[in-house]
Amino acid sequence: MPDTVLRLVDVSKEYDSEGERPFLALDRVSLEITKGELISVIGPSGSGKSTMLHMLGCLDKPTGGEIYLDGKAISKMTHDQLADARRDNIGFVFQAFSLASTLNVFENVELPLLIREVPEEERKRIVLRNLEAVGLLDKVRSMPSQLSGGEKQRVAIARALANNPKILLADEPTGNLDSKSSADIIAHIIGLGKSIGITVILVTHDPRVAERTNRIVRIMDGKIIEDTGMKHKRRGAK
Ligand SMILES: Nc1ncnc2c1ncn2[C@@H]1O[C@H](COP(=O)(O)OP(=O)(O)O)[C@@H](O)[C@H]1O
Ligand SMILES: [Mg+2]
Repeated sequence: MPDTVLRLVDVSKEYDSEGERPFLALDRVSLEITKGELISVIGPSGSGKSTMLHMLGCLDKPTGGEIYLDGKAISKMTHDQLADARRDNIGFVFQAFSLASTLNVFENVELPLLIREVPEEERKRIVLRNLEAVGLLDKVRSMPSQLSGGEKQRVAIARALANNPKILLADEPTGNLDSKSSADIIAHIIGLGKSIGITVILVTHDPRVAERTNRIVRIMDGKIIEDTGMKHKRRGAK
């Protein structure tokens, strides 16, 4: 399956809880994600959505099972190899905007490129292209404190895309926004999948948002209880 970008095989995640039995937040989850898919992950608070997204983003190693990023088992990678693979493949947008408050909009999006030592002219081109894609070219010199919540989240999206990742992971990116800004952010994220063919995995608790994606993975008590994408596979659609 050459188009598989991420694969979880029986992935479990236990968290240590002081003195007590470890807490099983993810229980033998298997999932295969294909290039260009637009997926939502839905489930009640505490069901393990963020834990699963952290696993998919290779931010944390599982306590059981294996994660394959671009066909490579992450348990076999060193810390540095994993950091490189993550940087080259994955962009994140979190619920809290997590922008650097002392950097302006341009500089926030530029940051991941500076870390990669991309030359200045190219950095400028990439930053402006990504800010244009989220409709913020008129705010390049603004500070985060001068932006609305929706605008901050658009900057976070532009920054997540600066490294040209194959996969964009978003963890309840509209959780802190009013409904109009939420709709705007979701439209941007869904549009990205269509315009640049990036794989998008979107955690949400809003069923109306989930309905706009092509595949819904429903999670409960650390287990996948429904995966609409699997039906397509069994029917042989792809
Ligand atoms: N670092 C941690 N240490 C201990 N328990 C955790 C940790 N992170 C999450 N949990 C627990 O794991 C469960 C799943 O959490 P999470 O993945 O954040 O759920 P969701 O994103 O669906 O709300 C919750 O019961 C949470 O309290
Ligand atoms: Mg969460």
